This record gives sequence, C-alpha cells and structure tokens, in this order.
Amino acid sequence: MTTTSGNTNPASVQLSAQAFRDVIGRFASGVTVITTCSGGRNFGTTASAVTSLTDDPPMLLICLNKSSTSAHAIRESGTFAVNVLAEDHVQLAGRFASKLPDKFEGMAFEKDGNGSPLLVGAIAHLVCSVSEQVEAGTHYVFLARVEDAVAYPGHPLAYFRGAFGRMQMAPDASVLREVRERIITTVNEVDQAIDLDRWAAELAVGVDLVHRALIALVSEGLVRREAGQFVIAPVPESIIFESYTAKLAIELGVAESTVGRVSQGQLTQLRQYMEATFEFIKDDRFTDPEAWIQANERFHEYMVELAGSKILLDTYRRLGLPGLNARTINRSTYATAELLNDHRKLVEAYENKDLGAVVEVLREHADRPRQLRARERELFGRA
Ligand SMILES: Cc1cc2nc3c(=O)[nH]c(=O)nc-3n(C[C@H](O)[C@H](O)[C@H](O)COP(=O)(O)O)c2cc1C
Repeated sequence: MTTTSGNTNPASVQLSAQAFRDVIGRFASGVTVITTCSGGRNFGTTASAVTSLTDDPPMLLICLNKSSTSAHAIRESGTFAVNVLAEDHVQLAGRFASKLPDKFEGMAFEKDGNGSPLLVGAIAHLVCSVSEQVEAGTHYVFLARVEDAVAYPGHPLAYFRGAFGRMQMAPDASVLREVRERIITTVNEVDQAIDLDRWAAELAVGVDLVHRALIALVSEGLVRREAGQFVIAPVPESIIFESYTAKLAIELGVAESTVGRVSQGQLTQLRQYMEATFEFIKDDRFTDPEAWIQANERFHEYMVELAGSKILLDTYRRLGLPGLNARTINRSTYATAELLNDHRKLVEAYENKDLGAVVEVLREHADRPRQLRARERELFGRA
C-alpha cells in the first residue's frame, strides 16, 4: 500500500524512485565509510546501507552501487572495513561520498589485518571478509563475516531525509520530570547557569541523565543554552496557559464527581479556604504574592482533594502551579477582584449543588490569567 498515489489498487501502483527515496529517507541511519585495499590502492566510500545480519556468526551486509569504484575494489579484495563515523564527521562523510582521486590524502588511518584502512576518530571499526555477493538491480549486496570489531567513545553521525544530524538520546522519563519540576519551581535562579554536578548530586542521578533532560527542556523553552551552559529561562506564557488548561481538565473531572456529593463539613472547609484568599488582592495588585500563592493553592487543592483520589491529587500537584505562579507574579502584577469573585461563585455553586454553574465558573477562572495579562498589556503596555 502506498499513500503517495491516489490509486488504491495495489497491483497497478507505480511508485516513483523519487517518492520511494522521500519516504525511505524517513528511516534514520548512521553513516559509515566502507574501506578496502586492492592492488596496493586504498578505496573508500560513504555508505549508510549497512545492516547487521546475524550475531552468531557475526555477520553484516552492505549495499553498494555498481558504479562505486570501492564496490569493484571489494569484489577484488574480498575484504573491507566498516568505519562508523562520529557526529563531527560531516566533512569526512562528504569527502568519501565524492569521486576525489585520493580520498585518503592527509587522513589519519591504520590498516587492519586485511589491509583495509581504519580511519582514526571513527567510533567503531568492523573488520569484514565477504562471504557472499548478491546482485540486486543497480547494486551489489555484500554479505560478510565480521572478523573483528572495536568500539570507541563518542556519538554517531546521523543521516535523515538527505541531511546529516546528531542522534539525541531519549531522556530518562523520571529524571526529565524531576528536572522539569525543579526548573518550573525555581524562583530565584532565573537567568542563572545550572550547576550540572550539583543538580545531579541532589537528584542522585548521573550528570549525563541531567544533561539529556536539559537538552529536552531547551525545546520546551524552559532552558536556553548560553556559552556551553544551560541557563534557566523565564517560563514562557504558553507553558503557563497550558498548565492552567491542564488544571481545568482536572478540576472539571473533580466537579463532575463531587458536586452534590460532598458533606456539609467539607463545604464549610472549602468556604474557609476561599475566604482566606480574600485579603491578598487590593487595588488591583497582590498585597503579598507569596501568601496569595499559598492561600490560592490551598483552596484549589482542597477542591481536588474532594474527589478522594491520591493519584489525581499527585497529578494535580505535578503541574507545579505554585512554582509557576511564583516565577510570574509579584507585587506589581495586575490582579483584580474578579479572581476572588470567581472563588466566591465557585463555593456558592458547590453549596447550591449546581454542577452547571461550577463548570462555568471553572472555565472562566482558568482563562482569567490570560485575560488579566492581556488587559495588563492594554492598560500599562507591559510585556
Ligand atoms: C550519507 C551518504 C550515504 C551513502 N550511502 C551509500 C550506500 O549505502 N551505498 C552506495 O553505494 N553509495 C552510498 N552513498 C554514495 C557514495 O558515497 C558515492 O556514490 C561515492 O562517490 C562512491 O565513491 P566510490 O565510487 O569512490 O566508491 C552515500 C552517500 C552519502 C552522502
């Protein structure tokens, strides 16, 4: 089946070479230089069509175009070496993909037992002897025994959709979560460089895991790279608003399962937490941002607690809303009594067992930060 043609009859689909290249280019690979020595001359070609075949006996296969001089040299010598390129070998890959008369000029290499050049700096060398050759259209497929193989430290060069790149190791999920949480809740260290060793020690994980997590967080905009260091970036608005959307999803679920089902005692407690938020907004400003964050969190968290699920509560806490708020609000932040009114209306709707009203206020309240930011910009031209 193909999606590149409008024709749905598989028997009559004609996949063009270009369409095939485009699709198969999505299959990311490493990059190698295949070398051999024949008639006293060294040959080498860049190749990505290298596949491991069996591990007992160790075998691999390579596919080389019949137009490749290296392919013909391998047919003569019956041996070759696979040099796995490192991530900084883009130029070298280009050189061995060329038709230069002597691609080895000025290159550092050693020779394996068969005389094939082993490029210094490759992250792996595999010494091979051909056991079978297969002709497949424009290509020769060489199936080979791996006589020796050595690996060196370093990261591989990658090839994807006709371009070179780096392979990025997937971050460990739990380390990523912890590092992310830490960055979101870090208030005092914005714009400062992260001390990788200290963070790794404090989180009791390897520095490389913290490093990988930080690379992943760069793409989220929570961290930026500066002069080889990771610097904590101010939280982008998009992340704040997205967190409020996630909070809303949880609160809507909680409302669905709790409105009309909570005890009088719980309602009284909810009202008390609501009233405790009242004293921290005056004259369109937070009087004490830190105390507001705590009181506000206590109120909202209590609503989630009403659902009686520890897992749900943990999920809610993971959003790190107090930390996000601490990073973004201060005494000069625009904040109106609308926030407090929302709280009051929410409790009243709970008391009236009116799910529709609770849902409406929750939606309005979740959008409030966005509304206030927009109005603040309008009124005071603040970023
Ligand atoms: C990233 C990359 C991967 C390549 N993979 C292969 C391959 O697997 N097989 C092949 O025959 N040519 C491949 N080529 C093309 C050869 O490197 C190119 O044709 C080279 O000029 C052949 O050199 P030679 O004739 O000296 O052997 C690749 C080129 C690049 C840039």
